[in-house]
Amino acid sequence: MKAIRAGALLAAVACVLALVGCANAVAPGDTSHPAVDPQHATIGLLLPDSTNTRYESADRPAFESRIHAKCPGCTVAYQNASADAARQQQQAESMLAQGVAVLVLDAVDGQAAASIVNEAAAKGVPVIAYDRIINSPDLSFFVSADNDQVGVLQAQSLVARLHELGVPKGGGILMVNGSPTDNNAVLYKKAALSVLDESGYTVLAKYDTPDWAGSEAQTWVAGQITQFGNRIAGVYAANDGLAEGAIAALQAAGMSPVPPTTGQDAEVAAVQRILAGTQYMTVYKPIRRQATIAADAALTLVNGGTPAGTGTTKVAGKTVPSVTLTPVAVTVKNVKKVVIDSGFHTVDQICTPAYASYCKEHGIS
Ligand code: BGC
Repeated sequence: MKAIRAGALLAAVACVLALVGCANAVAPGDTSHPAVDPQHATIGLLLPDSTNTRYESADRPAFESRIHAKCPGCTVAYQNASADAARQQQQAESMLAQGVAVLVLDAVDGQAAASIVNEAAAKGVPVIAYDRIINSPDLSFFVSADNDQVGVLQAQSLVARLHELGVPKGGGILMVNGSPTDNNAVLYKKAALSVLDESGYTVLAKYDTPDWAGSEAQTWVAGQITQFGNRIAGVYAANDGLAEGAIAALQAAGMSPVPPTTGQDAEVAAVQRILAGTQYMTVYKPIRRQATIAADAALTLVNGGTPAGTGTTKVAGKTVPSVTLTPVAVTVKNVKKVVIDSGFHTVDQICTPAYASYCKEHGIS
């Protein structure tokens, strides 16, 4: 005990001597959080699932490379929750116990994760809400895409395509939404419905897909095909993983051509389906830029600063500085420009042997 107390005293003295280094990183009055050396800080990154490819292929690598480029002595502690909110809570707690200086948290459950933010605040550790808002008044920063706009783009594209195909008013749409614990999914659904409800087309049925699991979407869509059959003229799917499940069900039922289906994330497999004509559209979001912005904000916090947003977001009665990035609707018409020419995916990733002929057909080489 004595040795620990003496250690704590020494650390406190060191803080007094080097005010810049620790007074900034430790919340006033907080004695539980060890002094942080900004040049050797550990930054916690908690992502929500690994069935959607963006997290391991874009968010995580972009975040880590930005931190390492700007702070070579810093470490990123990374965990993926596999869509399990309780697991994410444990992952966050173990990071806090390990002494992370900042948490960058993409919450599985935006309500439940408020308790993670609470625990972090009690230790003087700032939290950045990454991609999904967390219902807490104690956030330091929020970076995401314009999520209302994502839902609007998806629904507008679907409606425009149904018009183009000559589907008469009253034509049916299945709505495959994301996880109800993700506030983004709530926003996509609401924004998409605001367009679909005015379109003259009929939403036959809606489903909130647990955990954003494509396999659940596939099972649900298969059941709807049994019920509605050829009345299904189009499918609103909130992201590419759900689109994959929906399209598998439509194909298994022999629906050819596959009714136009939406998506989001511009996953490699979705871009391939768009080229092959089995998925109508996806939504591209500047994910790497988002990760870079979050990394910069985390380093600002490590150094005792306040990250500046380009705007603010209201959450739990407080205002948090935020950055909102612009999504882009992607169909076969602009996929080359938006997804490949921008460097988001390479030609080699998209034009695998099975898709080479589609790439050729669409001038991608
Ligand atoms: C993200 C989407 C992602 C989905 C499933 C949403 O919160 O914004 O990009 O596809 O979660 O992980």
